[in-house]
Formats: sequence, structure tokens, C-alpha cells
Amino acid sequence: MNLLLIITGSVAAEKTPSFITQWQKAGHHITVVMTQAAKKLVPVEIIASATGKQRIFDDLWDAEMEEKIGHIELSRQADAILVAPASADMLAKMAHGICDDLASTLLLATNKPVFVAPAMNVKMWEHAATHRNVRQLQEDGIRFIGPVKGAMRCGETGIGRMEEPENIQQQLEKWWQQQQTISAGLKNKRLLITAGATRERLDPVRYLTNDSSGKQGYAIARMAARLGAHVTLISGHTNLPCPAGVQRITIESATEMLAACETLLNAKTPVDAAICTAAVADFRPEEQHESKQKRGEKTSLTLKLTANPDILKIIANHPKRPACVVGFAAETDHLIPNAQAKLKAKHCDLILANNVSLGAVFGQDETHLHAITANGSDDWGVMSKDAAAEKLLHLLALHPA
Ligand code: CTP
Repeated sequence: MNLLLIITGSVAAEKTPSFITQWQKAGHHITVVMTQAAKKLVPVEIIASATGKQRIFDDLWDAEMEEKIGHIELSRQADAILVAPASADMLAKMAHGICDDLASTLLLATNKPVFVAPAMNVKMWEHAATHRNVRQLQEDGIRFIGPVKGAMRCGETGIGRMEEPENIQQQLEKWWQQQQTISAGLKNKRLLITAGATRERLDPVRYLTNDSSGKQGYAIARMAARLGAHVTLISGHTNLPCPAGVQRITIESATEMLAACETLLNAKTPVDAAICTAAVADFRPEEQHESKQKRGEKTSLTLKLTANPDILKIIANHPKRPACVVGFAAETDHLIPNAQAKLKAKHCDLILANNVSLGAVFGQDETHLHAITANGSDDWGVMSKDAAAEKLLHLLALHPA
């Protein structure tokens, strides 16, 4: 694996030479960038010597390098970027898109996965500003390794110590292996992903909808496309941008979502797998008015609703059924039995069940899924929606369509 390591200004920087040595010993490549603050804590010569006398990059204004637009090249040539240690200052810059030196500029310019291993005083880690920045970075898809609890150089104890180098290496290697399996299994496969919330119109300004943010479906689409799958994302309402390399078809209602799915299923090239994450409204107003309905003197209003098609069920029973059909189950009670019933009733291969009691999943960056198949259920524990996307794609890759 080819890693770009960015060392920033925290005393944990002194652990990086041993990380570099072990990383290379395991057969991986490394390129190192240091901030000015990092260079005050560990001499460049020590880092260079750990790499086997490679060049250490530290200057955005290096004329020779910038002749080839070096900061873009550096940010793109690695398989992943690791910021270790990641100081509170660097997390703040990353969260706000500030780029005033080589390290922060290439973090903004990169299109590669970014890992951070924070290291700072416990009070700095617990500060509201750091919390805000961490939340923003998690939402942006940055992956955190640590920090962990322990004694600090300043004499205080708490959360803020950088994760041990061997654990960082282990996590990166595990992630890399998983990426390799996913891209081998899903390269050039065609995926249909539904995401977001449908809107069922009453009139031009009113509709029925739900709380879904679309984050889980978009995370799956983004990752699958990055790893070589052909992804069509059929999306209801979200505030999310279309992920790079993904073909997005935006629709409003369940009826439109079904029509877009049918078109894709009936296309010449078959769909290999369908992943239905959309929060589809089960019912729509029986009547949709062309003009805004007036309140008038009414003191109450009764709406008559009609059932929407069950898109997942239709896909799973379609004459051109993809080899693998995955659904999600949003439940507030009896999570596992309800999800097992959905698996059977809808005839899909896998259901990922989550608890959607108020505030538990919708709009959050973390999720707690249970994988339900005909063979039983598996608790995936609490994880980021990105990590859940990775785990699902890994499963699909191991049982390719
Ligand atoms: N789904 C669908 N079309 C619908 C309703 C749901 O494709 N009209 C899909 C969702 O995308 C999800 C799965 O079915 O993958 C389960 O959705 P969920 O809302 O949990 O369940 P429902 O089938 O709507 O059943 P209920 O509301 O009774 O729990």
C-alpha cells in the first residue's frame, strides 16, 4: 500500500519514525509531508533517515516541485493519506477547508481516503470547538483512528493520546485488504442503489415525506464507484451532492422511483445487484391537486391515501431480478423479527435492519445495523455509515453477483 503520511505539530510526532520503519518493513510504500510545527518537534533528518533517506516534503512554495503542480501530484499518487499525529490545529483547518501550507493544501486537493490519528491534550480534545470540527470531519468522510485514553506528556490523563503506531498500521492494513477484495469483486459490476426520501404531493406546495437524509445510500454509492463499480443512484430528496463517478437520477415520488428502477432493470446490460436504502413513503394522497388548496373555514381535514408500490419487493421478484437484492429495514420495535419477516415477504437476499427510534439513525453519521439473512442475524455494532457501506460492499464482493 502506498501511504502519504502527514506529520503535524503534536509531541506524538516522535512516534512517527518507528511507524515509518514498521510500515516499510511490512512491504508498503510511504511518502512523508511535515508541517512547520512538526519540524520543531522532530528534526526532518530523523524522519528522512527512518524512510531510508527519502525526500521529506514541507514547502508549498518549492519552485522545483510546483513546476509539476507538486501538491496535486502528492495528493493523488497515494492509495490513502494518514495524518498522524493530527493536531487540534490541523483538524480545525481540515474542517474549514483552510489551506495555508503544503499539508493542508494537499488535504483539500486530494480525492483519496483520509485517515487521522489525533493527538492532543485532553482539554483540547474535549473542547467544544474540537467536537464541532470532529463532527464535521466525520460527516465529510474522514476516518478517525483514536485518540485513546492514557497519561500525557503534560502530566494530565484522559482521552487525547495518539493510537499506538502498531494499531494504526493494523487498522490501515485491514482496511486496505478489504478495499482490494471489494474492488476485485465489484469492478465493472452494475449496481442500482435507491436512496433519500420520496415526497408524495398533496398540491404544488405540500407533500408527505420522512426524515431520511440519504447519507447511507450515498456512502454506499460513493464507495462502490470509487472501487470500480458502475453505480446508478436513484435518489429521492436529500441535501447531498452527487458522489464522483456515480450516475444519479433524481426523482420525487415513489411512483417515479419505481419507473426509474424499471427502466434500469429492463436496459440491455443487466443489473448485478440492487441496494434499496431509500425511505419510500408507503402511501400517497389519493388526489393530487394542481393548485394550492385553501384552508377556507375548515376546522379539520381528512386525507385519503392510497398505497405506493413496494419497490424493493418488485425488484426482488422481477423477471430481470439482479443476482443480489439488499433491503434496509427501519424499525422502532422488535427489530430482528420484523426484519426477518421483511426478508421473507420481500424475497431479498439480505436485510440490514436499524433502529430508527427518534434521533437514532436518520441524519446521523453513525449507525447500528443488524445483517439478516436466511441463515440468521449478525450484529454489526455501532459504526460510521461509511464503515457500514464498506462492510456491505465487502459482503457483496465475497458473494459476487
Ligand atoms: N421499500 C421500497 N418501497 C416501499 C417501501 C419500502 O422499496 N414502498 C424498501 C426500502 O427501501 C427498504 C425496505 O423496503 O429497503 C424496508 O423499508 P421499511 O420502510 O423499513 O419497511 P416497509 O416495507 O415500508 O414496511 P413498514 O413500514 O411496515 O415497516
